[in-house]
Amino acid sequence: METIEIIDNKVEKVKISYSETTQVIGLFGFGTVGSGLYHVLQNSPTTKARIKKVCIKNAFKERSLNSKFFSTNPNDILDDPEINLVVELIDNADDAYLIVKTALLHGKSVVSGNKTMLAHHLEELIEIQKKTGSALLYDASACGSIPIIRNLEEYYDNDLLLSIRGILNGSSNYILSRVFQHNDDYNFALKKAQELGFAESDPSFDVMGFDALFKLVILAVHGFGTYVYPNDAFNCGIHNLSVHDIRYAKEKGLKIKLVATLTKFGKNCITLFVMPTFVSADDYIYNVEDEYNGVVIEGAFYEKQFMFGKGAGGHPTGSAVLSDITARFHDYRYEYKKRKYFNYPEYSTDVVLEVFIRYHDIVDLSIFGIEEVIEKYNGRDHRWMIAKVKLSSLIKVKDLITKLNLFIAYTGKIEYSEK
Ligand SMILES: NC(=O)c1ccc[n+]([C@@H]2O[C@H](COP(=O)([O-])OP(=O)(O)OC[C@H]3O[C@@H](n4cnc5c(N)ncnc54)[C@H](OP(=O)(O)O)[C@@H]3O)[C@@H](O)[C@H]2O)c1
Repeated sequence: METIEIIDNKVEKVKISYSETTQVIGLFGFGTVGSGLYHVLQNSPTTKARIKKVCIKNAFKERSLNSKFFSTNPNDILDDPEINLVVELIDNADDAYLIVKTALLHGKSVVSGNKTMLAHHLEELIEIQKKTGSALLYDASACGSIPIIRNLEEYYDNDLLLSIRGILNGSSNYILSRVFQHNDDYNFALKKAQELGFAESDPSFDVMGFDALFKLVILAVHGFGTYVYPNDAFNCGIHNLSVHDIRYAKEKGLKIKLVATLTKFGKNCITLFVMPTFVSADDYIYNVEDEYNGVVIEGAFYEKQFMFGKGAGGHPTGSAVLSDITARFHDYRYEYKKRKYFNYPEYSTDVVLEVFIRYHDIVDLSIFGIEEVIEKYNGRDHRWMIAKVKLSSLIKVKDLITKLNLFIAYTGKIEYSEK
């Protein structure tokens, strides 16, 4: 491609080299997102990228492309010197970690969509990038087609950011929409989500809040610079939702959404958690329905901003992967500015949340170490309490909440320590 440049005060036509280099891609995974990316690439003819090889797991699966493209040997990609970009879109986090790490150590650029892998290994992968100079991009890993990571990295590259809060999981949001808007029963809505491909056959990753938590961990690194190991954080899902909880919310004119909350407080602390949350009609995320995601970013001086879009699916996610591919073409890399230039905040669980707890047996409430009871109800067939509970206590009893069939929802009220 020719372009105009001014050289020695004369306008010259010069050739710029980047337009002549094509990215040669080795793709891992050809499922929903991998094949979605393939179609997106075909519809973006100006993108200077071609897929040379696709590594998959099952050699005998029927494929829509010629078999010469496929391999089950990762080294066909990792050891190929012509391949300069590895795109990792597989569903196994442990294998993904090995693939991404090896590719970076081989000096190849990598694009990944694997939030589970990233949330558990991001600190190490940042160090490897520093040491090798290779680059890892993963905008597709959080909120599908919403360009949240690059915005946190580039636009919100100062310390005005106060909170990131939103609906980060499309499957559970679809289920909640069916329940609240169409009066579907939870299990029927879940079945429908599975039929439409919005939820996996094992939906626990989505409905128990793990998916949203892993995304939130990634956003914390780019928004604030702080890395939080997922096991040290609280996630609680919608899997124990009952008609009683839905009726309670509706009577108060509220909806229940699975909300990821990340907020800065005190001198320099952040806290984060994922919980079913009561949402009122004046909240930006109230009208985020079905498989959509919505993120509210709040900062000093600019107050609230809202990003909305498709959070999952082959083509929306494939388009986010394409954006990372073209970003690498222009040599873009995350600088992890908040870690590099700022004294990044400490992660703290020393906050008190006001929560709704629906329970069967009063004895079960003893697990929470309740700080204060605000309101309670004892019905014939169900009981609930609104109480103040420490986030650190909730983390300790995370597994028991499911086992005891308790339903917990955050009312939105939080008290911070003086830290
Ligand atoms: N689906 C979405 O909407 C979405 C959105 C954002 C991010 N993501 C992330 O994107 C990634 C892919 O998700 P997906 O929905 O596309 O999964 P998927 O439909 O289940 O496809 C997974 C693909 O990975 C391949 N695979 C698994 N283990 C492999 C290994 N060790 N080596 C090579 N290939 C392997 C499978 O091979 P076979 O074809 O041989 O089985 C399959 O092609 C996940 O990390 C997911 O969290 C997905």
